[in-house]
Amino acid sequence: MSAISACRYCLFWILALPLYTCQGVPVICFYSKDCILPCSYNPGTDVVIHWQIGAKVVHSFYNGNDQLKQQEEQYKYRTSLFKDELQKGNASLLLRNLQIDDEQSYHCYVGTFEGSYDTYIELKVASPVTYVQIETNETENTEEIECRSSDIYPAPSVTWSYPTNESYKEFTNSSTDVNKLYSVVSKLTKEGMKKNTNVHNYSCKIKTWQSQWETTLTRQEQQIEEGQEWNVSCMLPNVGPQNCKLAWKTSNTNTVTATFEKCKQPSNTSEIPNNILLKDDHFHVPKVTETDNGTYTCSCTYGEVTKVCQIKLIVIPGEANNSTPLITVVIAVAVVVVVVLLAVVLYCRKKNKKNQSEHKNGAESYESTPLKSNSDDQKTNGQKSK
Ligand SMILES: *[C@@H]1O[C@H](CO)[C@@H](O)[C@H](O)[C@H]1NC(C)=O
Ligand SMILES: *[C@@H]1O[C@H](CO)[C@@H](O)[C@H](O)[C@H]1NC(C)=O
Ligand SMILES: *[C@@H]1O[C@H](CO)[C@@H](O)[C@H](O)[C@H]1NC(C)=O
Ligand SMILES: *[C@@H]1O[C@H](CO)[C@@H](O)[C@H](O)[C@H]1NC(C)=O
Ligand SMILES: *[C@@H]1O[C@H](CO)[C@@H](O)[C@H](O)[C@H]1NC(C)=O
Ligand SMILES: *[C@@H]1O[C@H](CO)[C@@H](O)[C@H](O)[C@H]1NC(C)=O
Ligand SMILES: *[C@@H]1O[C@H](CO)[C@@H](O)[C@H](O)[C@H]1NC(C)=O
Ligand SMILES: *[C@@H]1O[C@H](CO)[C@@H](O)[C@H](O)[C@H]1NC(C)=O
Repeated sequence: MSAISACRYCLFWILALPLYTCQGVPVICFYSKDCILPCSYNPGTDVVIHWQIGAKVVHSFYNGNDQLKQQEEQYKYRTSLFKDELQKGNASLLLRNLQIDDEQSYHCYVGTFEGSYDTYIELKVASPVTYVQIETNETENTEEIECRSSDIYPAPSVTWSYPTNESYKEFTNSSTDVNKLYSVVSKLTKEGMKKNTNVHNYSCKIKTWQSQWETTLTRQEQQIEEGQEWNVSCMLPNVGPQNCKLAWKTSNTNTVTATFEKCKQPSNTSEIPNNILLKDDHFHVPKVTETDNGTYTCSCTYGEVTKVCQIKLIVIPGEANNSTPLITVVIAVAVVVVVVLLAVVLYCRKKNKKNQSEHKNGAESYESTPLKSNSDDQKTNGQKSK
């Protein structure tokens, strides 16, 4: 070892030691993946390597071989050194199938005939947010939007955004599974659901310090009269045309109606009903029928973003064509009822006249008798009180 390099080495440690011993070099690795914990030393003879967490042995190497008798159970079959790299002063450790419990402070000690070296590593395990699923549920008087994701580490946070002038309640519940990964479900609810045809924008962002995913939802209710033309557009903001795979779904059948990339012809049109014409991210329904009633969802995923557009179609029963028979039936029924009523009334009148002429000869009519006596009573009562 030359004087200069030795000096450089000393200087390095004098400057770096306080930093590295207090808080090791941060290393980020991903859950279930392989991870390399870096460790270097100046090449020498009689190499002894100890990778440890406090007093626990993660991996040891001496006498030219791995020494794994003292190795912690948790690390069994999951560690190795790069043998070809050892003579180059590289004592980095390969840790396979990373677990959450591997998030620890590691100490790499290397001793050679010429000197000894310590490296401290602060391992952080990450399991990034890879999706945020959004679902809506409407009942008569409640509107509910739910977003969920899973297999996340460390604990994620949920941020909603929604029309600010509406009063929504947020409720988030997160839990961990056996692998210590987080699942999160967050609900946005609003009492007093109002029918309205405005566009509503929502967004649910789930994030950790290391990763995030955002799903946005654009909702609208559209009312189209039966028989009218309907143009449906995926109301998504400008999205990269190449990397956005769009899919239209309808709630009626819950099948994918069409899958295609923006600015390209639909790739699979086998399931598209004949009456629907597709172009780009648009639908064109020349004549809306009752069976088109339902919720249409279109979604696009790119980067760490999912965009969802939901259009609820309410088909208003038409007046012009289809409902004509109904009106005719109603009118016919009404006419029949009126005729029958008239007949009954006329019949009753005739009968009444007959009865009256019969009664003229005899006593007063049955109906008028109590009425008359009643009014007589009142008169006498009134006279009495006066
Ligand atoms: C040590 O070896 C590993 C595996 O080949 C490599 O990824 C790493 O960069 C090496 N470290 C140094 C300091 O050369
Ligand atoms: C929708 O919300 C209602 C009322 O909160 C609930 O009973 C129902 O199970 C929900 N449906 C779905 C599919 O989540
Ligand atoms: C919120 O604002 C939108 C447009 O600004 C309006 O159409 C809607 O009625 C408002 N909602 C409430 C509950 O005030
Ligand atoms: C939160 O979620 C867990 C797991 O799904 C469930 O067991 C628990 O009851 C939930 N807590 C609340 C307050 O809903
Ligand atoms: C709907 O789309 C069709 C064909 O794309 C077009 O001819 C028609 O003008 C559109 N109608 C409306 C109301 O935008
Ligand atoms: C909803 O989002 C769309 C797309 O980003 C935007 O064009 C529209 O102005 C937004 N509407 C409201 C009411 O915020
Ligand atoms: C198209 O849709 C049909 C029916 O669902 C399916 O069987 C087929 O695999 C799809 N083709 C492609 C290329 O996605
Ligand atoms: C479509 O559904 C709405 C409510 O979901 C209903 O009021 C309307 O009558 C339905 N239209 C038809 C044609 O069934």
